[in-house]
Amino acid sequence: MIGTNSKRIDLDTLRAELQGIEAVKCPPSILQEILLVVENPRSGAKEVENIVERDMSCSLKLLKLANSAYYGFSRQVKTIREAIVIIGLDGVKNVAMSLAVADAFKKGTPAERKFLEDLWVHSMATATAASMLAKEVASEISPSLAYCSGLVHDIGKVIFKEHFGANYMEVFGKAREGKLPISLVEEEELGVDHARVGGWVADAWDLPEVITWVLREHHSKTGPWDRAEKPIGLLALADAIAYESKAGHGGNFKPRRTDHPTFASLGVDDKTIKAVQAEIIKRAGRFSELLRLAG
Ligand SMILES: [Fe+2]
Ligand SMILES: [Fe+2]
Repeated sequence: MIGTNSKRIDLDTLRAELQGIEAVKCPPSILQEILLVVENPRSGAKEVENIVERDMSCSLKLLKLANSAYYGFSRQVKTIREAIVIIGLDGVKNVAMSLAVADAFKKGTPAERKFLEDLWVHSMATATAASMLAKEVASEISPSLAYCSGLVHDIGKVIFKEHFGANYMEVFGKAREGKLPISLVEEEELGVDHARVGGWVADAWDLPEVITWVLREHHSKTGPWDRAEKPIGLLALADAIAYESKAGHGGNFKPRRTDHPTFASLGVDDKTIKAVQAEIIKRAGRFSELLRLAG
């Protein structure tokens, strides 16, 4: 990169190019619809049922999942209404949001697909941890929005893979070999990191502002976090929990540990961190099963 001006032009060009790729141009509509329900306190089970039922493919996948070993229910789940009763409204919302983005994690060469599958499990682990933390700690982000932000927090890496292909896999390889934070290598090699690109994607998808903001800042605001910035800190802690639980891999080879002193500013006690971690370890196998069933 030479000089601020050329960097600015490069970034604008890259942003315009990325905005032209299919995954960015076509937001998963069901994700947007579920988020509208999440944000409207007057809508509930009926609205979620309608949204999922209108999308035949989502509806079929959700029922397939509800009847799979993923949940291990003994009785057959035949309708979305039954799924809401058995899995719970939050559970159905979270699974529908996950299914909406899952396809983006299944494309590419075998090496790319392995990278994406690890990233998927990491994203599901971060989403689950973020929603559990948001239930425990009062902040400006609800558990459902925290889940969504965890699910798409590293979507910038998926977009990089889509756009740069083998070149991005080299960035990933460089981070792995040097045991480096991937965002650092991205900045060096591409002039922008996945967090900023994630913010662009969230913006293009018209996701709630809090999600765009935490995606954009999840590596730049490194804490301690004040009350207003807590949603970013909670996502950072959820990310750290996912890495420590060894649930998949997000491509960061120098992740922050959960006992890092800055996390103390979030007011999450050790017992809670351990409990969330145990839950993630328990569910990790299911996360890849969901990706398989999503096809
Ligand atoms: Fe990240
Ligand atoms: Fe991550």
